[in-house]
Amino acid sequence: MIYITRRLEFCASHRLFNPTFSDEKNADTFGLCNNPNGHGHNYILEVTVKGEVDPETGMVLGLKALKNLINEEIINKVDHKNLNVDVEFLKNIIPTAENIAIHFWNIIEPKIDSGTLHEIKLFESERNFVVYRGTKIERPY
Ligand code: NI
Repeated sequence: MIYITRRLEFCASHRLFNPTFSDEKNADTFGLCNNPNGHGHNYILEVTVKGEVDPETGMVLGLKALKNLINEEIINKVDHKNLNVDVEFLKNIIPTAENIAIHFWNIIEPKIDSGTLHEIKLFESERNFVVYRGTKIERPY
């Protein structure tokens, strides 16, 4: 088993808040990310796929195909967007790095056709990042 990773970047804004919390509880819970008019992050996304090396190609899968898939399914939909309002698959969720990573997994996992999705790593800043290793989504085929 071998693991390969593609790293991509995107810029997006968000505001973390829970509409059922008071203003004070929102500020306490989310800190700077609760700024009423939002703020931006330069996100770094690392997608890791695991699999066996195909002896005919020497690869698990083509990194160009993986890059194209991630660009089409994720980056083009979130880059330079407001994650609270512009992104259909993030509607009605609090756009924390945790929630974003889980949604990215759910979008990408069914579309990996060589190897298996192993990990989504999402950096919100140099110091803060989350890692999500979800389960393989069972499909009837
Ligand atoms: Ni933030």
